[in-house]
Amino acid sequence: MNKDVTAPLSILFLCLGNICRSPLAEGAARAAFAAAGIDVTLDSAGTGDWHVGHPPDRRAQAEARRRGIDISALRARQLTRNDFYDFDLILAADETNLRDARAIRPADATAELMLMLDLLPGRAGEGVRDPYYGGDEGFAATWEDVAAVASALVARCSTSG
Ligand code: 4NP
Repeated sequence: MNKDVTAPLSILFLCLGNICRSPLAEGAARAAFAAAGIDVTLDSAGTGDWHVGHPPDRRAQAEARRRGIDISALRARQLTRNDFYDFDLILAADETNLRDARAIRPADATAELMLMLDLLPGRAGEGVRDPYYGGDEGFAATWEDVAAVASALVARCSTSG
């Protein structure tokens, strides 16, 4: 990881459609921070607008439900320039999301922008694979990735006081 992320108080998870990866990441992080008793602001968004207002993909909802987490109330929204001031940290699922976010990032943005997997030892630079066009097993793999990211975020917040 090439950036020092300590105790971010507000985190935005970003993917393409905001119906698969980033809502799962938000759900995993909500559960992990709640379990740790740490108060943070969490949200998710997509770079695209196709699914704005939609709930998470039913396969993503099912994957979260298998882990005891209900993400059915989440609704997709598109990334805005304001997000670069409203959040301390924006975590993109993959390189395309990162590039698209950089394209609208205001010059005086205050948010850090990086890949989700940059937070995991040995996985910096990797993307969370998009499960949208695949089968259910892709969603299980997405969950493993985003749950590890959520744990890494909680660990950082727990140790940085
Ligand atoms: P997500 O997955 O970026 O993880 O939410 C996708 C959802 C929808 C589409 C692509 C990826 N789509 O092309 O509609």
